[in-house]
Amino acid sequence: MDSALALSLLEWQLELGATEAIGDVPVNRYEVPAARPAPAPAPFPPPLPVAEDPLEAARALAESAGSLADLEEALGRYEHCELKKGARNLVFADGNPAARVMIIGEAPGRDEDIQGKPFVGRAGQLLDLMFAAIGMGRENPDAENTLYITNVLPWRPPQNRDPAPEEIAMMLPFLHRHVALADPDILVLMGNHSCQALLGRRGITRLRGTWTEALGKPALPMFHPAYLLRNPLAKREAWADLLTLQARLRAP
Ligand code: URA
Repeated sequence: MDSALALSLLEWQLELGATEAIGDVPVNRYEVPAARPAPAPAPFPPPLPVAEDPLEAARALAESAGSLADLEEALGRYEHCELKKGARNLVFADGNPAARVMIIGEAPGRDEDIQGKPFVGRAGQLLDLMFAAIGMGRENPDAENTLYITNVLPWRPPQNRDPAPEEIAMMLPFLHRHVALADPDILVLMGNHSCQALLGRRGITRLRGTWTEALGKPALPMFHPAYLLRNPLAKREAWADLLTLQARLRAP
């Protein structure tokens, strides 16, 4: 094959969205597998394996976690979510678990998948700047001004596609347990998927800036920083929401 043709085939793959090599070694899908010897017949029909219900398994694992470290480990053992197979890392949380404010985003993107931490790409940099403007940050040592950050999904969806409803449903028991164990005073719901998961409602333009309740805690929906990168004019509303949050934190 000449190099011009090889290059155009690569470009075509990029256009289809195959932007990353997942394995270190190429797989030749045209190779005919060597014929395997037929297995010896079993003396009796083997018992059918009992398929584990993904939601039940998620609930049982999440409930069994007595600490945040247990919960991270339990997520690592959960095998029912297909996203895990395509992800490089589990993205559990970042910041200070003792924080009064817990931010819940959507799902890891490319940078988060590589680093294993939420909100470390461009949207994450904007998120850090937004909260720094009200004196808060994930690295701050004091519980008053620090943040604890997680996502609805702990694994990156391929090509950053939207989370599927069944993926959210599967991960919800873990998120509920995560909030219960971290026990923040306030939840900040970043964007539509976070609102869908915890409020059962979408429509961030209407929801943002109005206090509501999620998992028994005061919750403030806000525009997702990725949306603000695409719509810089909406930063004005995001600033108003940050001031709303600050006022609530300062209220006696
Ligand atoms: N967007 C999110 O919702 N979460 C991340 O961790 C990164 C980008």
